[in-house]
Amino acid sequence: MSLSRRHFLLSGAALAAASFLDLAAAPIQVSGNARRLIAAPTKAAILGPGTPQTDVWAYDGQIPGPVIRLRLGEQVILDLENRLPQPTTVHWHGMRVPNGMDGVPDLTQPPVAQGERFTYAFEAKNSGTFWYHPHFQSAEQLDRGLHGVIVVADEVPPEVDRDLVWVIDDWRLNGNAQIIADFADPHDASHQGRLGNTATVNGRVPLDFKVRSGERVRLRLVNVANAWIFGLDFTGHDPTVIAYDGHAVRPHKPQDRLVVIGPAQRVDLILDMTGRPGQRFEVVDRFYPQRSYKLLDVVYAEEALRKASPDTPIALPPPVLVEPELTHAKRHEVRFTGGAMGGLRSALFRGRDTAMRELVRAGKMWAINGVVASRHDEPSALNLAFGESHLIDFVNDTAFPHPVHLHGHPMKVIEVQGKSPPHPTWRDTLLLAPRSRATVALVADNPGRWMLHCHIPEHQEAGMMAVVTVA
Ligand code: C2O
Ligand code: CU
Repeated sequence: MSLSRRHFLLSGAALAAASFLDLAAAPIQVSGNARRLIAAPTKAAILGPGTPQTDVWAYDGQIPGPVIRLRLGEQVILDLENRLPQPTTVHWHGMRVPNGMDGVPDLTQPPVAQGERFTYAFEAKNSGTFWYHPHFQSAEQLDRGLHGVIVVADEVPPEVDRDLVWVIDDWRLNGNAQIIADFADPHDASHQGRLGNTATVNGRVPLDFKVRSGERVRLRLVNVANAWIFGLDFTGHDPTVIAYDGHAVRPHKPQDRLVVIGPAQRVDLILDMTGRPGQRFEVVDRFYPQRSYKLLDVVYAEEALRKASPDTPIALPPPVLVEPELTHAKRHEVRFTGGAMGGLRSALFRGRDTAMRELVRAGKMWAINGVVASRHDEPSALNLAFGESHLIDFVNDTAFPHPVHLHGHPMKVIEVQGKSPPHPTWRDTLLLAPRSRATVALVADNPGRWMLHCHIPEHQEAGMMAVVTVA
């Protein structure tokens, strides 16, 4: 299905209908450090007031779910209650939690059945921007609206006027603003994944982003879309990246002034409001050249906050992660194959070499190291010796980009297409370009059986996942 302009036009109507949107997400109620998360169906006004409400699934009745704000080193207890019509789990994306708390059904815990509860407990080991979402039937559960952000406070945060979260998402809506429930569409699974037709910020079609001249904003971008890659152009502004996937990076300008953020990735920006009072600028998503559209307007108030942006330091302290020891690291290869135009003829599926035609009939299209996963608790694809450093070469032998996510261990980016990144960079989700390769390094310091998968759930469920054992 190609992207229809209709809903983006609809967003224009919504823009006219309402005048105010507080883009700052509110913290949830905290009692001690225990929190309750209820996953349940509800309705949300994604398109804004005066438009039909969308049937969604949400945490605590809101989209996005509540922001979970933690202090560094805080022990948190989260009680999940499942009121969905199917089982679920919660995965704490990017957080270095113990294996048993990782929320992968069958691999790290039994799925939480309808009406049941599960208590998650872990420590906030790193500061930064993380998120949470289900890991059961992810294509459907993520898409219906189950996601929320975790912010672990920096010990010494950069001085800003506002610290804001933008959860960016896309939805595939019909003319009545209802989610089109074709979650297992074989074309999506074999191509780019499920792309939507309506973009939202913090759960609704965005209105004006109101700012003041001289203001300094920290923007935590979180891409919770199944498959959409956003490339945000803050026209008239010069954002500085200070963190990727929660982990500090030396402050720098994004390449070509485009803030690229793949599914599941996060980018923390410092945005200085250098426009004049009364001015208006567009934030344009132009990752897909044929499908660029305006996400929202940045609108300056008539009153300036101050004459010029502050010049206080914006760098975050370097991430507290163990540096891998590259000279003695063991080297591994992870090769992604399959999909449309991928030329995959057969692969190992349920222990048997299976022809592509038969795989497709079983809804499978992708392989990792020649194996098509059929469930979360596959035999291990990779064994990493505990406590040792490892290098992993990711090879994307397919015609599509894949946001590759490893659980339990942030990965230090060593090389992308033969080039080392300009600044030391850690990622929990690496966006691999079509027909490209990248090398990461890590210290296998978190024992257990961990997921490695494409974060486009349509790809993951069609075979693009594997188990990595750290022991
Ligand atoms: Cu964000 Cu395996 O997940
Ligand atoms: Cu993929």
